[in-house]
Amino acid sequence: MLRPTPITLGASSLGARGDADEIAALADALLASELGDVDTSNNYAGGRSEAELGLALARRGGLRPGGRLYSKADADAEGRFDGDRVRRSIEESLGRLGLDHLPIYHLHDPYTITLQEGMAADGPVAALLQLRDEGVIDAIGIAAGQTQLVHDYVLTGAFDAVLTHNRFTLVDRQALPLIRDARERGMTVFNAAPFGGGILANGTAETYGYRSPSAEFRAHIEALRALAREHGVDLAAAALHFSLRSSLVDSTVVGISSRARLDQLAELVEVEVPEEFFDAVEAMGEPPASPND
Ligand SMILES: NC(=O)c1ccc[n+]([C@@H]2O[C@H](COP(=O)([O-])OP(=O)(O)OC[C@H]3O[C@@H](n4cnc5c(N)ncnc54)[C@H](OP(=O)(O)O)[C@@H]3O)[C@@H](O)[C@H]2O)c1
Repeated sequence: MLRPTPITLGASSLGARGDADEIAALADALLASELGDVDTSNNYAGGRSEAELGLALARRGGLRPGGRLYSKADADAEGRFDGDRVRRSIEESLGRLGLDHLPIYHLHDPYTITLQEGMAADGPVAALLQLRDEGVIDAIGIAAGQTQLVHDYVLTGAFDAVLTHNRFTLVDRQALPLIRDARERGMTVFNAAPFGGGILANGTAETYGYRSPSAEFRAHIEALRALAREHGVDLAAAALHFSLRSSLVDSTVVGISSRARLDQLAELVEVEVPEEFFDAVEAMGEPPASPND
């Protein structure tokens, strides 16, 4: 079983913001960071995330000792996501990264196909399994939102890892059943987006899980913010440590949009959030339905 670093650095916005120098510096910093391994995907920033990481790998002479880089297979622009597409996707990924092997390649957001198509003999999962047999990748994962769909893929028993996002946070527990089932099957669990995409970290984001929350859900976040203040706890630290402290999570995937955010993450990791705060969060009861339900 793959044992990831407790934190994985999410590179979904690498290449999407900043000028060329800032982007290159962020790619270098992500690969140099001892905070954890790096998560990217074929389609992040239209392929630029992988391309910038590839350029940084070339500049740096490869990964740091023990460092790992994960990526994901994506549908093509027309939404086609079959076995042939997966083989092209990995060729693109490895080409951009300048690597010949990846420790994990996830099936990423398979929303344009049914589960049956995903699991067909000529489908993407069969192609991923073949790549694993060939030694091009060590493990295959399912990485997506849509709780029921991810759960269904977990229950196929075909995967080594699962990445769920925005659904196991301080304010959302809907991924808990699928995470439990994944662990029962010995899968590695990546819990991505502990800040709900930012709202639990910076207080200015208007969305939770990339969607507009209901008034009730927003009120729940505000109640948590007040609870954190009452306990003298920084909400961003609490949101991060909610995931880090969970025995159900192998790695928490945090989105890093700049070098400043990377430095801030190093500080948040060191914050000790008192157990009484998490007890008080539990005492608030079941969170209301999130915009992702
Ligand atoms: N389907 C999938 O496979 C999937 C889906 C979603 C995510 N992921 C993975 O998970 C990673 C994390 O997702 P995410 O970035 O959407 O969510 P996230 O980790 O919950 O939120 C990251 C955002 O929070 C803000 N933030 C972070 N640290 C902060 C700090 N110290 N103070 C204030 N604000 C802070 C930043 O926003 P600003 O910099 O904009 O202020 C940052 O971009 C992605 O990069 C990706 O690798 C995978």
